[in-house]
Amino acid sequence: MKTQLRLSIFAAGFVVLGLIAALVSAQGPNQDMTGNWVVRTPNNDETFRTTYLNLKQEGSRITGTIRVTQFFYHIAESTGGPETFTLNASMMDGHSERKVQYEVKLSGNELRVSTRRRPTDPPTQMVAVRAPAGEGALPPRNPLPALRKVRDNGLARTPPMGWNSWNKFASRVNDEVVRSIADAMATNGMKQAGYVYINIDDTWEGGRDAQGNILTNKKFPDMKALASYVHSKGLKLGIYSSPGPNTCAGYEGSYGHEEQDARTYAAWGIDYLKYDWCGARTLYTDEEMQAVYQIMGDALLKAKRPIVYSLCQYGRNDVWKWGPEVGGNLWRTTGDIRDAWDSMTRIGFSQNELAPYARPGHWNDPDMLEIGNGAMSETEYKLHMSLWSILAAPLLAGNDLRSMSPEILAILTNREVIAVNQDKLGKQGKQVWKSGDQEIWVRELAGGAHAIAFFNRAAEPAKITIKWTEIGMDGQPKLRDLWTHQDVAWPGPEYSATIPGHGVIMLRAGG
Ligand code: GLA
Repeated sequence: MKTQLRLSIFAAGFVVLGLIAALVSAQGPNQDMTGNWVVRTPNNDETFRTTYLNLKQEGSRITGTIRVTQFFYHIAESTGGPETFTLNASMMDGHSERKVQYEVKLSGNELRVSTRRRPTDPPTQMVAVRAPAGEGALPPRNPLPALRKVRDNGLARTPPMGWNSWNKFASRVNDEVVRSIADAMATNGMKQAGYVYINIDDTWEGGRDAQGNILTNKKFPDMKALASYVHSKGLKLGIYSSPGPNTCAGYEGSYGHEEQDARTYAAWGIDYLKYDWCGARTLYTDEEMQAVYQIMGDALLKAKRPIVYSLCQYGRNDVWKWGPEVGGNLWRTTGDIRDAWDSMTRIGFSQNELAPYARPGHWNDPDMLEIGNGAMSETEYKLHMSLWSILAAPLLAGNDLRSMSPEILAILTNREVIAVNQDKLGKQGKQVWKSGDQEIWVRELAGGAHAIAFFNRAAEPAKITIKWTEIGMDGQPKLRDLWTHQDVAWPGPEYSATIPGHGVIMLRAGG
């Protein structure tokens, strides 16, 4: 009897222990996603691309935030559970809502995370580990200055000409690439044709030191020495940052360190800054952009080195109306260009309404050139060069200058077309005639001359015939073909020509 009682107490003890174990495993730390999780994906430069999932699990519901590169999302809805949850998160980006979907599943001490950009994309699988509370939190919002006019820095009286690393190299840019691109530009005729800026785009940044000074990452061991090298070639060096905590690629931005960073750039010998909205969207609205950009405009002047100020916020909030007020020398007018006919022409031919805003020192920037990157034909790249020149757009080559063909180099260094781009009057050209896929654009030049571009956006050759008076031309000006480099005899009151598919004929009339 005694033994029996002992046995049943023993057995009951086991049951209780089992129950406790079951409870712990259902609700204990291992089965609850509550906490701060981080995914660290190595970049190619000893920095990491981070994703923070700050989650709170209450039963079968998960709330919280997801921070990834330049984005900060709130989880609006969770479905599934208890093993795997689908998190639908969103954020306001200017006036539009961005949505993402993550799937999360606990696996021991790790969180298996998978996400896809578009529903049709294959999922990206990641592993998150627990991070200390507060790590990766969005910094508090700094107050903005009252709007004022920032003094004109006197730079960029003609559209900036140079090269930028992004289109061809993206995160593969490094010290060696920049030096060899500078070597190429200094010796292949581009420098003589007017190209001067060598601009490093995103992914050069490291973290900050204990005093908050911005550091370079492994790809750029010594930015000051690099600037000296570029200067020794008679060229100038440009750099890139964001007014937000992060750049578009998720690297360190200038948020809260604007004056300090401007001083660092000046000390390094930097001559050009592209300042990309990116992570600022997590803290400020589009309507606040002017004040945000004013902070760096002031900081650059205070740093007392001539630095071209290039605004990059994709043409939001009518930047052309206030770009000059913040000290901007140029401002992007659209989203990113791609090396594709559709992308280039959609951007280039959409600039007509912005013509009144371009003037010496202050330019519309329809993004960098794709000439020579390989996905368009030489005919199409000639149109690209002609259109950007008619538009008084910055000419920032985006290809590998070390290995381009003579034909591509000839397009980039066509002095007669560049002379149109760099015309001192600084007036942006306008569309003056359009019929189906054919358009004529005219740019008024100094001394009463005009540049006239006959564009054929159709794939097939097209013959056009126009009366000069139809496009506002009179007299019998001297005519010169800027691509064949030949004078053209005055054809009488009408001009007739066959333009190749996706091609251009560019004339200079007068002067
Ligand atoms: C944005 C800009 C690009 C480039 C990338 C870098 O997309 O518009 O021109 O600077 O960021 O991350």
